[in-house]
Amino acid sequence: MVRRRYILLRVLPPMVIFLIGMLCLKNLSLGFHKSNEDILDSLDSEYVPQKPLNKKFDSNAYVLVDEVMADEKKKLHDLKNSGNHLQNHNRIEESNVPKTASSTNKQCPNEKCNFVFIKTMKCATETVVRILRKYSYENNLNIMLPQKKRLYLAWPYLMNDLDYRLSDRPFNGLIDHAIYNKTIMNRYFPPETTHYVSIIREPLKHFKSAFSYFKIEQIAGIFAKHPLTEYLENIKYYDSIYKSHEAAHYRYCIPDGFSVTKNLIAHCLGMPLGFPYGRQDITNNLPAVREHIRNLDTEFSLVMIVEYFHESLILFKRLMKWQLKDLIYKFVNRGTYYFSLSNKEKHKKWASIDYMIYEHFNKTLWNKIAIEGPDFYDEVKQFSLMQKQVNHYCWGLDRNLHKNLEISSSQFNSDFEISRKDCESMNISWLEKIKEKFDRDNKHVIDTRPTLRRPTC
Ligand SMILES: *[C@@H]1O[C@H](CO)[C@@H](O)[C@H](O)[C@H]1NC(C)=O
Ligand SMILES: *[C@@H]1O[C@H](CO)[C@@H](O)[C@H](O)[C@H]1NC(C)=O
Ligand SMILES: *[C@@H]1O[C@H](CO)[C@@H](O)[C@H](O)[C@H]1NC(C)=O
Repeated sequence: MVRRRYILLRVLPPMVIFLIGMLCLKNLSLGFHKSNEDILDSLDSEYVPQKPLNKKFDSNAYVLVDEVMADEKKKLHDLKNSGNHLQNHNRIEESNVPKTASSTNKQCPNEKCNFVFIKTMKCATETVVRILRKYSYENNLNIMLPQKKRLYLAWPYLMNDLDYRLSDRPFNGLIDHAIYNKTIMNRYFPPETTHYVSIIREPLKHFKSAFSYFKIEQIAGIFAKHPLTEYLENIKYYDSIYKSHEAAHYRYCIPDGFSVTKNLIAHCLGMPLGFPYGRQDITNNLPAVREHIRNLDTEFSLVMIVEYFHESLILFKRLMKWQLKDLIYKFVNRGTYYFSLSNKEKHKKWASIDYMIYEHFNKTLWNKIAIEGPDFYDEVKQFSLMQKQVNHYCWGLDRNLHKNLEISSSQFNSDFEISRKDCESMNISWLEKIKEKFDRDNKHVIDTRPTLRRPTC
């Protein structure tokens, strides 16, 4: 009897997971086992900025792109296309992209060009990433890239000296997914000449987005009318199923034992929280957590906040001494989440460190804005206006207009034009272009380092 029960206990959980898996296969077959960052990011969640507090702000500027691009067909198209990237690694996917005048090799003076961008998973980072990649490409910056065929610089593991492509030029920047670690990153990106930058998002929104993107409902087998609420009611249970070895096959790029909901932002920002197994875990050590946040505060030049996106971009632009037109973007990614949620407190308890981080850097963002002085808002307003015009011209009502869009000058910018080709150039990820250029520039570099095997992408 006892033995029988024992056998049942051993056999049941894998069976349950298997059945759940079968039930979910239909859902999963779309996004899984296709290795390309565009897949990850095209499924990224929506970005709906909150109305800013400041009345002077032009909030209309945000609205348009959402409507234009929330198109499932396009997503599918992207998925198919991006599946090809890996198989035909050398193919030029973005051949329709214009060669802008600035893509000729001008060198970038240092203070504008050295940055480490810590890409926190599920924080609307793809939009920022495209801005950074485009600038890097056009200004001939040497960006640290993952090893061939990899998407991440070891994420969610700490990177080491084997995780990047060799170059004989010093690196200017890092954009792809990597866990922040001062020791290793300072070796390649000296803090005296490099701005460390990241972007974070309100943790509950971040959680909803992660829940949808990582397919937690399907993989953890949640059958409930309100899956998010159900998850939060039994969070340890579902989290352990999700990260179990048995579910490995259904996850994409997530190694066993890694929680995608518990303090994910903190993990990306280098907080030691017990992953990978054997690493220090300060989750319950409040003073140590506070100290890590204090250190981040001194080591990072700027932590942007998704909810105040344009304010964040303008702070970034002033920090890096870029031009307003370098920031113009096409907003990427809006998944739909259909979840309703009543229990924020449970989430706050589960991911409490992410909340601490968010509250801290939301405060410092507004402190930074206060220091900038009154013309800061004028610049935000100017940029929002510009962005709105571009949205209309490139993807909105004026999209069939053939003459260029003229942006008039202001105290923050001289006048310039946006062409159809410029629109196209905002509609690509720039990843392939950056990789091709990197490999071209470094084709004579011989890499004799051993290849690291990692259970991630
Ligand atoms: C950063 O990496 C170094 C070298 O691998 C390691 O000794 C250190 O513990 C890491 N720091 C954190 C906070 O994990
Ligand atoms: C961020 O900080 C501002 C200013 O202190 C505050 O009014 C706002 O509610 C905070 N935002 C969020 C989303 O917590
Ligand atoms: C953006 O690119 C996709 C292909 O990656 C294309 O299908 C779509 O039409 C483009 N959108 C615009 C507005 O150019």
